[in-house]
Amino acid sequence: MVSDESLIAAAWGARERAYAPYSGFAVGAAVLTASGKVFTGSNVENATFPLTVCAERVAIATAVAAGEREVVTVAVVTQTDPPAAPCGGCRQVIHEFGQQARVLVGGSTGVVSVYRIGELLPHAFGGGFLKK
Ligand code: THU
Repeated sequence: MVSDESLIAAAWGARERAYAPYSGFAVGAAVLTASGKVFTGSNVENATFPLTVCAERVAIATAVAAGEREVVTVAVVTQTDPPAAPCGGCRQVIHEFGQQARVLVGGSTGVVSVYRIGELLPHAFGGGFLKK
């Protein structure tokens, strides 16, 4: 059983490894999958700015590359008050692998907000629309 607290702690740990020399805005993420495993990610920036990858997407891609397909909970942390919720693109990627995913958002105050992906991305577009 992976607690929300340990997932947030894993996200803070991942944030330490952020590569954010251009924005100076370090983000950490941790993903709990249906099999009970935890995968982490940090943002990875690039001198060609649009090539930057968000922390949440690094964590989810790492999970999927390890064979996981179902995201149960995503924790994301930034050193901000209020905490910064995932960007729109990351919401879409979270939804792809977890239509019921919980999203934990932590910031500098230590207070963690809890959302369902459906609250953050209502009326989501998903693979169901592509099926004939
Ligand atoms: N960033 C994330 O890692 N996740 C988000 O949900 C929003 C933004 C990163 C991208 C970039 O490296 C920095 O934060 C500033 O946008």
